[in-house]
Amino acid sequence: CGIVGYVGPASASPRPLEVVVEGLRRLEYRGYDSAGVAVTTPEGMVSAKKAGKLANLLAELERRDLPAGTAAIGHTRWATHGGPTDVNAHPHLAGGGRLALIHNGIIENFAQLKAELSQTGVEFLSETDTEVVAHLLARHHDETQNLTEAMRLTVGRLEGAFTLLATHADEPDTVVGARRNSPLVIGLGEGENFLGSDVSAFISSTREAMEMGQDQIVTITADQVRVIDTAGNAVEARRYTVDWDAEAAVKGGFATFMDKEIHDQPQAVADTLLGRAGTDGRLQLDEMRIRESVLRTVDKIVVIACGTAAYAGHVAKYAIEHWCRIPVEVELAHEFRYRDPVVSEKTLVVAVSQSGETMDTIMAVRHAREQGAKVLAIVNTHGSTIARESDAVLYTHAGPEIAVASTKAFLAQITACYLLGLYLAQLRGNKFADEIAEDLAQLRAMPEKIQRVVDNEEHVRAVARSMKDEPTVLFLGRHVGFPVALEGALKLKELAYIHAEGFAAGELKHGPIALVEEGQPVFVIVPSPRGRDALHAKVISNIQEIRARGAHTMVIAEDGDEAVVPYADEIFRIPQTPTLLAPLVSVVPLQIFAAALATAKGLDVDQPRNLAKSVTVE
Ligand code: G6P
Repeated sequence: CGIVGYVGPASASPRPLEVVVEGLRRLEYRGYDSAGVAVTTPEGMVSAKKAGKLANLLAELERRDLPAGTAAIGHTRWATHGGPTDVNAHPHLAGGGRLALIHNGIIENFAQLKAELSQTGVEFLSETDTEVVAHLLARHHDETQNLTEAMRLTVGRLEGAFTLLATHADEPDTVVGARRNSPLVIGLGEGENFLGSDVSAFISSTREAMEMGQDQIVTITADQVRVIDTAGNAVEARRYTVDWDAEAAVKGGFATFMDKEIHDQPQAVADTLLGRAGTDGRLQLDEMRIRESVLRTVDKIVVIACGTAAYAGHVAKYAIEHWCRIPVEVELAHEFRYRDPVVSEKTLVVAVSQSGETMDTIMAVRHAREQGAKVLAIVNTHGSTIARESDAVLYTHAGPEIAVASTKAFLAQITACYLLGLYLAQLRGNKFADEIAEDLAQLRAMPEKIQRVVDNEEHVRAVARSMKDEPTVLFLGRHVGFPVALEGALKLKELAYIHAEGFAAGELKHGPIALVEEGQPVFVIVPSPRGRDALHAKVISNIQEIRARGAHTMVIAEDGDEAVVPYADEIFRIPQTPTLLAPLVSVVPLQIFAAALATAKGLDVDQPRNLAKSVTVE
């Protein structure tokens, strides 16, 4: 969910409500099945909430004229407890309508708390765990007459993960927030202060921010910010300046955020390499806070991640095992966490996450650290939970990714994985020194190659438009082309709601080939003909096998690869690239294809149904 809170001077222009609505626009990508706001005034609390996208709430606000107020909170929801209805939308009111609360996360002991409150005569309007917290908070407010203290007492009763923001008509110039295992950052303005799920909530007003730690409570007024822990002690929160600008969080002239983010990819890769891959062939990873002696003795790497980030991990496995001769396992974070993985002090766990807030990945990071492993995070979001809880962080510099389905963050993650692999190889010394220096030089050339693929988007788009009525599309790849096939299929499922599946091309004859019939569209990611191990020839055979059974073949192949021509119904060209680095270019046509096909079907590319950008529940 997206959360925003604001306190400013009463005469403020824009009014607190407008500031919060602007924050919600920027946060809508975090969840969009309902939205709501509450505004406090000394006379009382006014709120509005609506099921559906933010536009529905905006129409409601247009209809009703809410007062200016001094403080406001807003929420855009991704439903967990209770369906997406007006009643279940946030804020939830309590204390005779004088208190408003919004929440992200899950309160695990809500049933018990609800029973307790029901016994004292509280009646509940919604099915949400949030409303239970609102009543608990109101009760503590009755006792203490202080919203901060009431929040502190309430948080002490809660189990689970949450960000909470509350306002009360008795303290109309204050917003109080709390967090446990769920994101909340503070924005510092002049004569105004902000709270948000992430900095995009307030980036158009201020770039000065403060991190909040676990189990902390923050109270903001127009000119004060106070942070305490659950024992009530003052906490010194860390200040930082956000290096994104507001421009980066808007569409920049493209029809969708995804289009923009696909075009941002050369820059995202270049920025991730910046200052790390020098022209002298040496790698500089200043953020690597894990001791070199530890990295030299690592005997296994386990990459944990979810969704697209996990496919970046698959690519990492091929590259790191080859360069470093260290075994690399890749596992979905939620699977890793709840089996009994073999992890020791000699294991390096690499957690890959765009948001740094994916709960499944957070839990896996904690589990790995409890087993004694060192955890390196590859994360895009500064100060996020995974970044804070890991032993070291290698930030990807993709900038804010707003479209729910990941594109530029994926390329940046793959780039960071390459940097890690090349760094470990240099550190540990190995027999492929020349090859590694060559791959590093080639890596620096990737942004320009990615640009060339993006520039050819019109051909991919035209083919995508012609295929908008296809019920199913298959994707085949070998070696690093295999995770690219998986990612191509995932993009199509996410954006176009088409059944899509990726396979290892070699596995074809062991089952999936039974799916191929006349006209079946199949993407094939063809490795470089200049690569090793006859990979190219093997994939050419695979194309022939499906072509013979009627498949409509859409081939992604290097410039100059003529061997594919006789077997391809469509060819999407990518620049010549060493095999291990090829995913950075070969996945790009698949992203463009999925986005264009979804657009042709009239779907919302940035906010696909049922998905959320950052899944902060397990
Ligand atoms: C969600 C998003 C995916 C993303 C995954 C992991 O499911 O819809 O696009 O790949 O989470 O997110 P993370 O922030 O951990 O990379």
